[in-house]
Amino acid sequence: MNEHITTMRRPRVVAHRGASAVAPENTLAAVTAAVARGADAVEVDVQSSRDGVPIIVHDADLARTTDLRKRRPDRANAPVSAFTYAEIRSLDAGSWFGPAYAGERVPTLEQVLETLRPSGTGLLLELKNPTSHPHLVAQVAEVLGCFSYGADVTVQSFDGEALRSFGRLVPDVPRALLVRNAPRHPVLEAWASAVNPWHGSVTSAYVRRAQLAGLRTSVWTANSRTAIRRAADAGVDAIITDRPARALSVLNQA
Ligand code: G3P
Ligand code: CA
Repeated sequence: MNEHITTMRRPRVVAHRGASAVAPENTLAAVTAAVARGADAVEVDVQSSRDGVPIIVHDADLARTTDLRKRRPDRANAPVSAFTYAEIRSLDAGSWFGPAYAGERVPTLEQVLETLRPSGTGLLLELKNPTSHPHLVAQVAEVLGCFSYGADVTVQSFDGEALRSFGRLVPDVPRALLVRNAPRHPVLEAWASAVNPWHGSVTSAYVRRAQLAGLRTSVWTANSRTAIRRAADAGVDAIITDRPARALSVLNQA
């Protein structure tokens, strides 16, 4: 008898800024919550302090996700790169989300790697605003090199030039280009292992074309059950979501 057994693997679930629907984004609490919920990987944003420490924060300034405005209203909208790590470390990065998270700090890249290591959970690391941080690529390369993380790490950015520079320093770490919309033709340079578009722009035809071009597709940021299901039906390789537990429950439904 000629039997064909097809094993359909579900897309990987990547917790966006950690499990950021249930804990303050880009903190160790959010990373830990993502691991506890069974995420396959955690996405965080890396920038650089004035004294060259790679730190995990999304916005160009610290006003939204820390208590900086309360403590130093005069500096609330100063860029991240204007602050030393000691200054950033003194800020509360959890109270804005809820009193249970008071005292949470802006973590370093190294702390995130240490937090992920015991579980082997993957890391999707976004080089954020690299043009505002001229040494970010080298600083991140150094931390990753020293840490010998071992498990899966991918570096992504909307900035292709930063990814090219990163590859010259760390050729063995996969790189993914972030784009707003899935391109009509999944072009791209040989260095890219993946193109990561906004979830609403992706179709199954696009994913197939990307696969033929040797590119994986991780979509962001699919949070509703409908969006998660739609991305899975399109055949994406990974779903970046604020809600990893919800994504896993949708994907594990028969
Ligand atoms: O992982 C993709 C996504 O994080 C890109 O957008 O603004 O959340 O960093 P943003
Ligand atoms: Ca990001």
